[in-house]
Amino acid sequence: AEDMGTDLQEIFLTEEQIRARIQEMAAEIDRDYAGKDLLLVGVLRGAIMVMADLSRALKNPLHMDWMAVSSYGSGTKSSGVVRILKDLDTDISGRHVLIVEDIIDSGLTLSWLKENLSSRGPASVEIATFLRKPEAVRVDIDVKYVGFDIANEFVVGYGLDYAEKYRNLPFVGTLAPHVYA
Ligand code: PRP
Ligand code: MN
Ligand code: MG
Repeated sequence: AEDMGTDLQEIFLTEEQIRARIQEMAAEIDRDYAGKDLLLVGVLRGAIMVMADLSRALKNPLHMDWMAVSSYGSGTKSSGVVRILKDLDTDISGRHVLIVEDIIDSGLTLSWLKENLSSRGPASVEIATFLRKPEAVRVDIDVKYVGFDIANEFVVGYGLDYAEKYRNLPFVGTLAPHVYA
């Protein structure tokens, strides 16, 4: 059985750091979308924590919907093929859509998703991500809101998993190498 104490190398972002940054992002989003009909689209499952906290930090009215996509299959590397496992329940034509993600790694999932949602006739499609890894910067994808740009480390917690574990941690930690070696 996993042991949080030895599986984690160190705390990377504390609950307090996360809370402060989410508040800042929310203030920016509230300002940018003032008077607009905002639809947050959370990408299951990693985005659950940031959706929960960001949506509660936003002061303006909004709607929420969810998508589930698969780009990894059973491997740990992006396959390049994205499938919709659960589509939106909302017709987004004419809506201001803000995709909410936990992390952009290769950027493959989001560039595909942004393209897909853009083809449905929304008023706008933007991206808010809690974390962004260096590789994503190389992909031509416009990300309007970034919580933290991070190094290429294996991070878990606050929605982020390794083999489906650690999503429930209230902070972000780095994984000890022996766990994934
Ligand atoms: C992770 C993460 C992002 C995506 C980023 O999701 O939550 O959605 O990968 O990777 P990319 O930028 O290389 O495409 P994952 O497929 O692991 O599903 P999960 O959210 O259910 O953990
Ligand atoms: Mn995900
Ligand atoms: Mg995952």
